[in-house]
Amino acid sequence: MTLEQEISRRRTFGIIAHPDAGKTTLTEKLLLFGGAIQTAGAVKSNKINISTRSDWMKIEKQRGISVATSVMGFEYKGLKINILDTPGHKDFAEDTYRTLTAVDSVIMVIDCVKGVEEQTEKLMEVCQMRNTPVICFINKLDREGQDAFTLLDEIEEKLGIKVRPMSWPIGMGKSLRGVFNIYENSFNLYEPNKQKKVTNVVEIKGVDDPGLKKHLPESMVNELRDEIELVNGVYDEFDEEGYLNGELVPVFFGSAVNNFGIRELLDCFTQIAPKPKPRETEKREIMPSEKKFSGFIFKIHANMDPRHRNRIAFVRVCSGRFERGSNYYHVRQEKQLRFSNATAFMAQQKETVEEAFPGDIVGLYDTGNLKIGDTLSEGEKGLYKGIPSFSPEMFREVINLDAMKSKQLSKGLSQLINEGLAQLFIYELGSRRVVGTVGALQFEVLQYRLLNEYGTSVRFEAVDIYKACWISAKDQDKLAAFVKDKFRHIAKDKEGKLVFMAESKAWLQMVQDNFPDVSFHFISEF
Ligand code: G4P
Repeated sequence: MTLEQEISRRRTFGIIAHPDAGKTTLTEKLLLFGGAIQTAGAVKSNKINISTRSDWMKIEKQRGISVATSVMGFEYKGLKINILDTPGHKDFAEDTYRTLTAVDSVIMVIDCVKGVEEQTEKLMEVCQMRNTPVICFINKLDREGQDAFTLLDEIEEKLGIKVRPMSWPIGMGKSLRGVFNIYENSFNLYEPNKQKKVTNVVEIKGVDDPGLKKHLPESMVNELRDEIELVNGVYDEFDEEGYLNGELVPVFFGSAVNNFGIRELLDCFTQIAPKPKPRETEKREIMPSEKKFSGFIFKIHANMDPRHRNRIAFVRVCSGRFERGSNYYHVRQEKQLRFSNATAFMAQQKETVEEAFPGDIVGLYDTGNLKIGDTLSEGEKGLYKGIPSFSPEMFREVINLDAMKSKQLSKGLSQLINEGLAQLFIYELGSRRVVGTVGALQFEVLQYRLLNEYGTSVRFEAVDIYKACWISAKDQDKLAAFVKDKFRHIAKDKEGKLVFMAESKAWLQMVQDNFPDVSFHFISEF
């Protein structure tokens, strides 16, 4: 197969959802329908159920398990489909944001009882920043959920996007009878089945087909006709271009646990989801079909066993052909590295890979050379853009409890930060180190790992910080004057970028008013 053909058949996507909406179940069912696994129950949930914080070791164990399911590749109708898993727990939201930089499209799962939830909103914002194409799957139709029109309105309103239903539920909960496939004009009878992938598709010619009455009571047929008429009146025709530009979200209804509505979703996905696209580096746009390999690291998974300090770095291949055993250029460190034991991910297994193509994810064993955001190439300089950091929600100062171990502490902190476990801000004044996280859990993980892997004891002390704001200004003198004025509150992030550590919302507002020439950003890329 030529490079072009390999690229054309790749579909790399992520599934996003608020915890419990059914992401794990849907992933499993897609693998089942795709023939990658034979029975349900094979995919381990990476959901983290903790009641007490001291339970977090369990989390790391689960994170360990989830490495195997981090990327699941399978073949379906001649396509190579790569599903990238995203952590369910909100404290690891940054992991999810970064994973979204490595996909070409997204499937968003919404629970029809709960509607749009907080985490869905945040994740959707990240998709919109990059105009990532999104397909929506409204799940749990076997439960008494909200009315389909209400759900669609809520999606449009809360997520600020346009939707187009591609299928339509006939009844819901106990009265669920099927789904009308608007996209293909067929009718899918509901037959709950948790194990097999049977779906009973009835061939009909649109909603006016008299054959419908054989399967549904007359009242339901009439209701369906009215609703489909309304759908076609209210929503514009499906516009593939709009979907590919991230402006229009096609919506499917189903019940993942019952294998219902999955085939429609998967078949439509394979028809419309985008193949790998060109990507920007600091220097230029790189086409996937360029002969030379390039890719970037979006995730690093540490081995929790201190005797084996290796880590797996996940590389998204962006151009050319990746070959095992080749030397590649580490752009940030300006040196050649050899990767002899590259791993690919197929369904549930990791296996050694000889070659990989744009859209594929390769796992590289690393002893500390690589960090998130690094680019590998065949000599070309210029880092891939687009792995931003968001302002953390919680901030604590690192207090070293063992002055003899300050070197180890610096090394440990730097390696754990490079893994993406948390963010580190070092103050210009007095070199104070403040760690920022999305949730409280990461502080415990950091503390434990610093002790167990680097032999250093630390304490985290609460600090009054509301947001970390990356700062910029058109006029560099104005920026310098600001930094001078506020030097007590200026820190640098891990890339050395200047950050203003705002103590409160009101204060930030005041500072913004006083320094109108300085821009304050809650995200490191602007
Ligand atoms: P997540 O990864 O998004 O967190 O969700 P997950 O797939 O683990 O699903 C969350 C719960 O919702 C699970 O129940 C799962 O069985 C259930 N679920 C998924 N799809 C459907 C559906 O279509 N209908 C209904 N009624 N439930 C669904 P659980 O009780 O937490 O776990 P389990 O013991 O059933 O596995």
